[in-house]
Amino acid sequence: MAYKNKRIAEVAKELKARLKNLDNKADILRAIEIKALYAEIPQLKPAERASFGQEVNKLKTELEALVADLQSPDSKLQPIDVTAPFDVNVPIEKRPRLLSSELGSKHPIMSEIEAIADIFQRMGFNVEQSRELDDEYHMFTSLNFPAGHPARDDYDTFMTVETDKNGHPFVAPAHTSTMQNRYLKKYKKNLDNGKPIAVLVPDRVFRNEDLDARHEHTFYQYEGIYVDRGVHAGHLIATLRTYFREFFGREVEVKIQPFYFPFTEPSFEFAASCPFCDKAGCNICSYSGWIELGGCGMIHPNVLKMANIDPGKYTGFAWGFGVERIVMIKYGIEDVRHFESGKLDFLRQFS
Ligand code: DAH
Repeated sequence: MAYKNKRIAEVAKELKARLKNLDNKADILRAIEIKALYAEIPQLKPAERASFGQEVNKLKTELEALVADLQSPDSKLQPIDVTAPFDVNVPIEKRPRLLSSELGSKHPIMSEIEAIADIFQRMGFNVEQSRELDDEYHMFTSLNFPAGHPARDDYDTFMTVETDKNGHPFVAPAHTSTMQNRYLKKYKKNLDNGKPIAVLVPDRVFRNEDLDARHEHTFYQYEGIYVDRGVHAGHLIATLRTYFREFFGREVEVKIQPFYFPFTEPSFEFAASCPFCDKAGCNICSYSGWIELGGCGMIHPNVLKMANIDPGKYTGFAWGFGVERIVMIKYGIEDVRHFESGKLDFLRQFS
């Protein structure tokens, strides 16, 4: 490297020669000559300072590069990829074994969702997914919640600061019903071909809850949608009763009570007789003899219309049940917060 300043050029030549004989190459960076050059800068005329200072820095940089090259490759630190603990592109056998797969186990929520999906698939339902971020239209408007309707407040919905083109925040779906409009539209062609729409949507939902043993901000629901000609509430009850009998492997009684949801008319709360005590009352059903499963009803004509389905021709039913509740009942789990805790002691019990 060439230096315009004669003295700096001389120091550079001298130090490079000295570097060859040094055992510890990095010592050259602490050479007295470099310190002297830096000490000189404040004494120079202001007009000379900048160019002199730049050349001294240039020399320092050149020496640092030479030192790095001369050091043995072993002593150089390997670059660390802070974005991933290992390179995801390397073949599996070359990746570090972080936790052997034999030690892992399926999460109890996933096992139950698979069991639920299996039952409904055998009844002819298509199983579909939800999403983790949605919009105001799918969370509320497409489900017949008018703007400003107080029922919107029942769903303690997480919202983003960013807004969509209509000025509405995006939402973390607070129920799987957000997918009704999409799947009604997607499977509408079934109706045109004389077949029903039958969809199950098991997935994760989010609510801004006060957390305790029965409330968690992240949990799972399974939404069901069924539409065809001549569908009535009897079909709803029979379908859900069949499902519940399959799930618990025994006969159950069911009951519905009137309720209110904007997206169903009429709306019900659905309960099944406690499979553990046959309605006699036990600690699992809080001595009521019944287990509340969730909401359901006949799909509101406005919801069908918003998916371009003629409510004069077709009717349907829908439900949205929580997954955690029945898993807790099945295994006697006392606190819903275990599921999202990631505690291995809890999870290993299900391996
Ligand atoms: N989305 C409702 C909730 O989370 C549950 C629900 C009720 C879903 C009735 C439905 C339904 O599909 O028809 O509270």
